[in-house]
Amino acid sequence: MSSKVARIGEKARTTVMGELNVVQITDCHLGSQPNERLLGLNTDQSLHDVLSAIQRDEKADLIVTTGDISNDGGPISYARFLKIIDDYFPETPLAWLPGNHDDPANMIAVGCHPVERNYHASGWNFIFLDSRIPGEEGGRLGADELARLERELSNQPKVPAAIFLHHQPLPVGSAWVDQYVVDDAEDLFAITDAHPQVKLISWGHIHQEFSARRNDVALIATPSTCVQFLPKSDEFKVDKTMPGYRTYRFCEDGTFNTRVSRIAEKTYSIDMAATGY
Ligand SMILES: [Fe+2]
Repeated sequence: MSSKVARIGEKARTTVMGELNVVQITDCHLGSQPNERLLGLNTDQSLHDVLSAIQRDEKADLIVTTGDISNDGGPISYARFLKIIDDYFPETPLAWLPGNHDDPANMIAVGCHPVERNYHASGWNFIFLDSRIPGEEGGRLGADELARLERELSNQPKVPAAIFLHHQPLPVGSAWVDQYVVDDAEDLFAITDAHPQVKLISWGHIHQEFSARRNDVALIATPSTCVQFLPKSDEFKVDKTMPGYRTYRFCEDGTFNTRVSRIAEKTYSIDMAATGY
C-alpha cells in the first residue's frame, strides 16, 4: 500500500488549524501503458506538465482528484497515477473519488478505498461523494451516498463543508454533456439547502471551467489535466484551451477563495476534429 494512501486515512480524523491550501486535479484519463493518448493528446505528458506547474507555483496541503483518474479503469493505471503523484508530492495527502471511467475495485486494489473519504482540516469538513453508475456515463448519488452526506452534515452543523464529486449536479449549457447530469441532483440540493454550512460543491467530468451559485453555495467545475471540451457547445467539440487545475484556500472563518490555472501555452497533438470520446 502506498504511504500516501495511509496518510489520508490517518489524517481523516484529525483537525489541522489555520488555512488549508487544496489543489484539485481531475479527469487525468491515464492509460495502463505510459504515454497513451486521448483524442490525440498524451495524457501522461499533460499530467506531468500540470503537476510541474503546481509544484512550481502552488502550496498544496491536500490534493483532491475528482474522478476519471484512469481512462481504462485498470489497476495498472491507478498504480501509475499514485507513482506519478508520489514523485511530485511525496508528503502531500491525496483524496480521490471515482468517475465514470474508473473502477473502484481496482482503485481499492492499489490501496485506496474510494468511499472512505471525509477529511477534516482547518475547521472545514471535506466530503467526497461517489456519483458513479457502474457501466454508464451519467451520474447518480443514490440513497446510500445521499444518506452519508446527510449524516455528515447533520453531525457537524457548525462546520463549513465542501463537497466534491465527479459529475455535474446541474446543466452547464452543453446538450451532449448535460445528458450526464447527476440524475438525483434535486435530492442532493434538498440536503444542501437544509444545511447552510455547505459552501462549495465542486466536480470534474465536463473538462472545462464552470461557475454558478445556489444560495450561498459556490457550484464549480475544474478543467481536466488533459483534453478540454468546448463550453456552451450542444455538440461534442474539443477546445484548444490548455490543461489545467484549480486551487483553493480554505480559511478557518468559513470563507474560501479559488482560481483556475492552466499550463503555459504549449503545442500538443490534439485531434480537434473529434466528434466524441
Ligand atoms: Fe467523466
